[in-house]
Formats: sequence, C-alpha cells, structure tokens
Amino acid sequence: MIIKDAKFLMSNTKVEACPAPNKPEYAFIGRSNVGKSSLINMLTEQKSLAKTSGQPGKTQLINHFLINNEWYLVDLPGYGYAKVSKSSREEWRRMINFYLQKRENLTCVFVLIDSRHEPLQVDLDFIDHLGTMGVPFVIVFTKVDKQSALKTDSTIAAYKRKLAETWDELPQMFRTSSEKSTGRDEVLGFIEQVNAQ
Ligand code: GTP
Ligand code: MG
Repeated sequence: MIIKDAKFLMSNTKVEACPAPNKPEYAFIGRSNVGKSSLINMLTEQKSLAKTSGQPGKTQLINHFLINNEWYLVDLPGYGYAKVSKSSREEWRRMINFYLQKRENLTCVFVLIDSRHEPLQVDLDFIDHLGTMGVPFVIVFTKVDKQSALKTDSTIAAYKRKLAETWDELPQMFRTSSEKSTGRDEVLGFIEQVNAQ
C-alpha cells in the first residue's frame, strides 16, 4: 500500500468523541515504551506524526490518525508501566476496555511486543483478554534492529509455545524495526488486504 496522506485528527478519552465510525480502524497497543508511536511514524513515513519518547507513558489518550482518507490508525496509551499509580492504571483499564468493546469500526488490534523479551505475563494476559472479548488481533514484535534475527526467532518461538497453551489457532505475527523500516510492507500489506475484504 502506498501512503499518500496521513494526518492527525484528534486525541480524546471517550469513545463517543472519537471520529465517526465510518472507516476501518486499526489500533496499536502494548506495554509502555514498546514502540507504538514510533511504528505509526515509520508506517506513515512521518518523523513526528505520533509523539514518541524514551520515557514510558508518553501516550495518554486515544489518538486518531486518518490515512489516505480511507482508514484510521489509532495510537493508544501503553500498559504495564510500573511507576503508574493504581488509580491511573484503573483509569487506563476502563478507557481501553470501553474503547475495545464499543468501537464498532475497530477492525484489528495490533498488539506490540518487544522482540528482546521472553514472554511477559502482562502481555499474555492482555492477549487472553482480547480473545475473551472476541476482538480480532495480530502480534507485532518490535525493535528487531536491537538484536540478531536468531534472538528474535527465539522470542517468537517462546511466545508461540506459550500461546499454544490457550489458543488452538495462533494469531498472525509480524516483526518490525521502526529504525530500519523492517516489516513496513508486511504490515501495510496486511491492512490493505483486510480493507479490501
Ligand atoms: P508510550 O506512548 O510511552 O506507551 O510508548 P510507545 O510504545 O509509543 O513507544 P515510543 O514509540 O515512544 O518509543 C519508545 C522508545 O523506543 C523511543 O526512545 C524510541 O526511539 C524507541 N524505539 C521505538 N521503536 C524502535 C525500534 O524499532 N528500534 C529502536 N532501536 N528503537 C525504537
Ligand atoms: Mg506512544
């Protein structure tokens, strides 16, 4: 897919205030600092469309971007950041659950996972949660430039083993680097294919 146009539309906390649900929507979620905002910039080839930061917890709101006037990309706040208070975590959970359950045009969630880490319970729990809610999702292993392809293979294999304990069918998986634009064609190709269905 060629990205002809990518623009930021709005940030908000409420599903009712999101743009009209009249286009397919793809949301990026994952632990704080996993690279959600960077991946959006890499896919759209705009350096600072989505705000990124070395400090976890940068993205706090539901951020909508309109791509090619045809579909929405959504940057969501991350989970699993230890320094976040219990009440903020609860607020996050409520906002995200509401979004995932009520956003009628939500087509697919991209769960981002740092390719350097062994399976983390917080990610496995979130994936199970999506499954329980019946939300379609795929997994993206991020920051593959930070290590050898073999190490990434081993992380992915470990996740597959873990997921196979609860799931009959494994989700589609991608590997990306926002530094090197790895996986760009694959992710955009997937979205193009789903949009065409
Ligand atoms: P929150 O909004 O805080 O939840 O974080 P996020 O998931 O949006 O992460 P963000 O895109 O802000 O990136 C976090 C840090 O990781 C930044 O310092 C990025 O430069 C770095 N980063 C993101 N993706 C990559 C990647 O593919 N390769 C490398 N080397 N660094 C990356
Ligand atoms: Mg972010």
